[in-house]
Amino acid sequence: MTLPVIISCDPGIDDAVALAVAFGSPELKVLAVAATAGNVSLERATANAAALLDLLGVAADFPVYSGAAAPLAGGERIADEPVHGVGGLGGVLLPDSTRSIEPDAVAHMAGLILDRPGEVTLLALGPLTDVGHLFNRFPDTIAAIGQLVIMGGAVFSQGNVTLSAEFNFYADPEAAALVLERGQRIRLVPLDVTRKAVVDRPTATMLAGLPSPAGEIGAMLVDMCNTMVARGRPDGAVMHDPLAAAAVIEQSLITWQAATATVELHGALTRGAVVADVRGVSGREPNIRYGRDVAAANFLTMLTERLKGLGLPGTARPRPARPERETTP
Ligand code: RIB
Ligand code: CA
Repeated sequence: MTLPVIISCDPGIDDAVALAVAFGSPELKVLAVAATAGNVSLERATANAAALLDLLGVAADFPVYSGAAAPLAGGERIADEPVHGVGGLGGVLLPDSTRSIEPDAVAHMAGLILDRPGEVTLLALGPLTDVGHLFNRFPDTIAAIGQLVIMGGAVFSQGNVTLSAEFNFYADPEAAALVLERGQRIRLVPLDVTRKAVVDRPTATMLAGLPSPAGEIGAMLVDMCNTMVARGRPDGAVMHDPLAAAAVIEQSLITWQAATATVELHGALTRGAVVADVRGVSGREPNIRYGRDVAAANFLTMLTERLKGLGLPGTARPRPARPERETTP
């Protein structure tokens, strides 16, 4: 039985790879893709998501939903993340899409979730702004979501934007705190495990040599490798979002640890940091499971096989899912 999933993303190169994995995996039925500001602006994230669905051969009437342009508490959004290159997809210029862009992603997400209580996996691959709005505007969705899989945070690992904060959580700490505090059935895929999920340059180059759409995805990964080397970092592309997507397909890729976790909001050095209690000293029940370790080789094998299978006959091409009920804010 396929698992219905809604994807909130900010494409972004690793988001693009995660979308390719999701649409290229028969275990999943992607109900909706919602773009949110993060790696790039909302406008660019939405356009990239639409172009990526075209690249992946997703039905032309499968819309992209447009979400939040700015953080939950207001203010300026975080600056574009340069690691994603020109245009946010590693300089890979995809044709502009004519796919429908529908506003108010949160209302559509709510409709799909409430139509299928307990069944839908919400996969959050960018800042949690839209998930925060979902919880605020449609609180019934909190108990109705089957599972909430989040790429974000650094639990016992150094941050990647500040010493203590990971990008998605740092981009909207208020949303991250709200979602961790109020969400249910949360599986957090943090930097602790994603940093072990690295596509090396030979693999990226091999993928770039494949026919479309794998070739374009590979070209994005080669660009990310180049950016990492230019930054004096190890030559490779960290697969943050694809690991979260793979964890939806095969939960056992990751070793999960229960924790009582929240997000620091006020520290000059720690804003956006995850504060996790794994020893029960807080006296509070655990509210998340986070990824403590990962079978990285198994993940990378799965990833490359799914990418190599893109565009081949039999790869899932879901039709759009429309909520049966209109959800009013
Ligand atoms: O810290 C990694 C996360 O931030 C990934 O989701 C990446 O796409 C960026 O959004
Ligand atoms: Ca992302």
